[in-house]
Amino acid sequence: MKIAMIGTGYVGLVSGVCFSDFGHDVVCVDKDPKKIEQLRSGIAPIYEPGLEDLMAKNVNADRLSFTGNLTEAVDGADAVFIAVGTPTRRGDGHADLTYVMAAAEEIATAMTGYAVVVTKSTVPVGTNRQVKQVVSKANPKADFDVASNPEFLREGAAIDDFMRPDRVVVGVQNERAAEVMNEIYRPLYLREFPIMATDLESAEMIKYAANAFLATKITFINEIAALCEKTGADVKMVSKGMGLDGRIGDKFLHAGPGYGGSCFPKDTQALARMGQDHATPMQLTETVIKVNDQVKRRMIDKIVDLCGGSVNGKVITVLGVTFKPNTDDMRDSPSLTIVPWLVGNGAKVRVVDPQGKREGEGLLPGVAWNEDVYKATQNADAVVILTEWNEFRALDLKRMAKRMTTPVMADLRNIYTPKDVKQAGFTAYVSIGREGFGV
Ligand SMILES: NC(=O)c1ccc[n+]([C@@H]2O[C@H](COP(=O)([O-])OP(=O)(O)OC[C@H]3O[C@@H](n4cnc5c(N)ncnc54)[C@H](O)[C@@H]3O)[C@@H](O)[C@H]2O)c1
Repeated sequence: MKIAMIGTGYVGLVSGVCFSDFGHDVVCVDKDPKKIEQLRSGIAPIYEPGLEDLMAKNVNADRLSFTGNLTEAVDGADAVFIAVGTPTRRGDGHADLTYVMAAAEEIATAMTGYAVVVTKSTVPVGTNRQVKQVVSKANPKADFDVASNPEFLREGAAIDDFMRPDRVVVGVQNERAAEVMNEIYRPLYLREFPIMATDLESAEMIKYAANAFLATKITFINEIAALCEKTGADVKMVSKGMGLDGRIGDKFLHAGPGYGGSCFPKDTQALARMGQDHATPMQLTETVIKVNDQVKRRMIDKIVDLCGGSVNGKVITVLGVTFKPNTDDMRDSPSLTIVPWLVGNGAKVRVVDPQGKREGEGLLPGVAWNEDVYKATQNADAVVILTEWNEFRALDLKRMAKRMTTPVMADLRNIYTPKDVKQAGFTAYVSIGREGFGV
């Protein structure tokens, strides 16, 4: 199959590279010339483990290429995937469909034969029908169908998720489009990964419902964690005890500083907005959004308490600012709420993050970037673990405690135990939903 992938972000690039690895002929398009230049020289503009190697393999096999010229890529394609951003529209919480519709118009005028226009971006219910109208209007002679193919990959594990998905959801309107989509996903079908065929609307809804459900699960355990702190229960034990129940499952039950990232915040907002538009308020989701904001605020209170009531003049070392480990993505990361607050309230913040600096430099003004945790904690008044990168999981706590002015720690990912931290010489420790000491 000949595939054009419009957008080379976290989803478009990974999908394009993986489709080429299936054996398809893939051309990835982006309107950002810098990205195309990097891609052509073998550099991935995003950090995703394993991506550059897989890119190189398929470029060398002549199945994968990159261009800024959409017309050239779409010419003769069997399927054109739209994988552009759908951020929150400023002011009203709606998914901003500007990029999707602009891409649809461009595709319409570039199509030369029958093609399926596949929306991979996360889009509100009804969008694929709108895409169909936009294409027909821009090119009344276009021979095409639309398909909805939402993506479920997780940044940081994107290649494995794409190659070994829990399921692939494909919303289509007829057999002709279904056949093209089946052919594209044949390697996964042959390996018996579930490929679920639906109508357009259900496919669109599955994506929002899944993300809102996961955001709810995280927020639920974060709220339980707050109650654990007041009652003496330990949220780690509570999560484990809940997760062993097969009806609940142990995934997404880790208490932390609130969900962030490029999907959950914007997708919960868009679902809430969709509900309002259809006079069917998504009351649970609306509450989840509110509670998640409070969770992030609660993290600030914890740090302030740890610092004796004020962060003014304190040197605070923050470990991890990306929204989760193994990605450089900073979009809606809890660090974007917490760190600027600390800086704004007089703290001198030092940051260590294995991949966050490139994005983070512009987003977190006034912080000092460090590469080495031990140097960054020298003479610090507090250390805050915000993202659970592997690099932070087995630190020499004794070495850290010795160098700090006041050895106190806020472990907002529960990666250490109060016992270990105390033994290392820390004088105070707070975490999430468990007892700490010294505060
Ligand atoms: N990031 C994730 O983990 C994830 C997971 C599942 C679904 N999604 C969804 O996938 C979509 C894309 O997300 P992302 O994180 O990859 O976005 P992104 O912002 O990383 O990438 C989007 C890319 O599209 C390019 N682009 C925009 N308009 C274009 C056009 N007309 N022609 C060519 N290129 C164009 C941009 O330059 C950018 O490089 C969103 O709807 C998102 O909700 C994201």
